[in-house]
Amino acid sequence: MVIQVFENEQQVAKAGAAIIAAQILAEPQSVLGLATGSTPIELYKELVKLYDDGVISFAEVTSFNLDEYLGIDRHHDQSYFRFMVDNLFSKINILPDSIHIPDGTAVDPQAECERFEEAIADANYIDLQLLGLGRNGHIGFNEPNSFFQKATHVTDLAEDTITANARFFETDAEVPRQAISMGIGTIMEAGRILLLATGVGKAEAVKAMVEGHIDPLCQASILQIHPDVTILLDQEAASLLN
Ligand code: GLP
Repeated sequence: MVIQVFENEQQVAKAGAAIIAAQILAEPQSVLGLATGSTPIELYKELVKLYDDGVISFAEVTSFNLDEYLGIDRHHDQSYFRFMVDNLFSKINILPDSIHIPDGTAVDPQAECERFEEAIADANYIDLQLLGLGRNGHIGFNEPNSFFQKATHVTDLAEDTITANARFFETDAEVPRQAISMGIGTIMEAGRILLLATGVGKAEAVKAMVEGHIDPLCQASILQIHPDVTILLDQEAASLLN
């Protein structure tokens, strides 16, 4: 694992955007794995700046998002689809047909998981997967468990994830309890992985991911055995590392 520590969140975002931009410049037809959450928002702003400045084009890029809430329509203001449109897709020239996000309202969620997994294989797999990190060590919505889930699947969200997400919904009843998420196998098949974590709230999860045993109770710890992982941290997220 290559671990880089920066003074602040802004520098993490700039460094992350530079890595993605370099990937696109080297391979304009790159397949990118994208993430939601508050962590990558600044990175997406930096990517939009690079696009506006004519440095990169997304015209030939294909994207796959990690996850989507189950039961949330793509037009819902808290859907991950909407997040991606608002923070990135509406501001760049990616083709609508090149965007792939699990459909949280699919009539048959299991079939949707299989369709999503096949679409990734058809695109010849993800070249560069962007990840955030849950406070409990989750990546995508692979929650602490007794095993690592291989493929895209329907998952129950952990209580602490539900609590963390509650701030985005008006009533408790609206907070999703389930999601469709790429599996750990799906993520590990990516050629390169770029994980960002910022803030003191992530410090324990970062330590478990980097210095702990490989353990499905910290799903991100599996990244220790991926051959090409870059982790970008601010000083707070890195504060518990030896
Ligand atoms: C969500 C997403 C993850 C994300 C995590 C951290 O649960 N499914 O992909 O990495 O939360 O979010 P944040 O960046 O807001 O801390």
